[in-house]
Amino acid sequence: MTAAPTSLETDLMAMKEAARSAIAAAATLDELEQLRIGYLGKKGQLSKVLGGMGKLSAEERPRIGALANEVKELIQTQLDQGKSALETARIKAQLATETLDVTMPGIFQPQGRIHPINSIIDRIVDIFVGLGYTVADGPEIETDYYNFEALNFLPDHPARDMQDTLYLPNGHLMRTHTSNTQIRYMQANEPPLRAVAIGRCYRRDTVDATHAAVFHQIEFFAVDTDITFTDLRGTIKVFLEALYGEIPVRFRPSFFPFTEPSAEVDVEWQGKWLEVLGCGMIDPNVLKSVGYDPEIYSGFAAGLGVERLAMVQHQIDDIRRLYTSDLRFLRQF
Ligand code: DAH
Repeated sequence: MTAAPTSLETDLMAMKEAARSAIAAAATLDELEQLRIGYLGKKGQLSKVLGGMGKLSAEERPRIGALANEVKELIQTQLDQGKSALETARIKAQLATETLDVTMPGIFQPQGRIHPINSIIDRIVDIFVGLGYTVADGPEIETDYYNFEALNFLPDHPARDMQDTLYLPNGHLMRTHTSNTQIRYMQANEPPLRAVAIGRCYRRDTVDATHAAVFHQIEFFAVDTDITFTDLRGTIKVFLEALYGEIPVRFRPSFFPFTEPSAEVDVEWQGKWLEVLGCGMIDPNVLKSVGYDPEIYSGFAAGLGVERLAMVQHQIDDIRRLYTSDLRFLRQF
């Protein structure tokens, strides 16, 4: 209130100088903000000076007003410059401490692969599902009834010896084939039916290049009112072509207690024939054992050796390679 008109001008000039050095000395964005409030804020120094303008004479007012504006803009410009200088310095400092080398090699993440046994199982199941088959499931620990008796193996029949079975102390056994699932599925369902069963099988076999004590089979079977051997042959042909394309295939007459007639199918492997599946027309005694009338229904069945099909597909020379977990071998698939 007491300030004389000339003293306003002096105040503005002094403020300009003080602001310049204070802004130049500010080391943080926070300090700059405090300076802005102190000089240009609503209750800041500039508005205090302008508060005294009312006392000025009519000729002095525009001149001091213009000077006040000039000082205000100058301070604002210096604040902006100080702010961008501090921001640049902050980014530079951050870049200097947080070095990120984008050319550095990444951290190696080993990729898993599908085991050749599982991948061929997936392909085979896809083929049968495409032909309208349902996936059926059966237990690995089985009773003599489902593994043998219902499949028409008589108690002392030599066909049992061919499967050199592993028995459990309670009289149950490790299933020797997936044919147990035929019986279980047919008991639970009425014809017409088409099903495929996949799983592990166990035999007290001597292990060699083409035999393992634990191996996988896929069983497929169909029952309807007029199924013939031609349907079986056609299905096997379509299946093997879907899996391998054109490949030499041989049907051989054979014997299984649960099929009549029976056949074995060989495909070419390492310049020789390798048996990959057994098949036949379901024996009337088996149909009777699940309560189907063999005068009305007929059916076919087949059991495939999964390891052997994989050996043919990938030209693997020894079944044991599939189980030794040798990464050099497994990485090829
Ligand atoms: N269960 C037979 C075996 O493991 C394979 C087999 C043969 C299955 C003929 C069948 C079949 O369904 O009809 O040696």
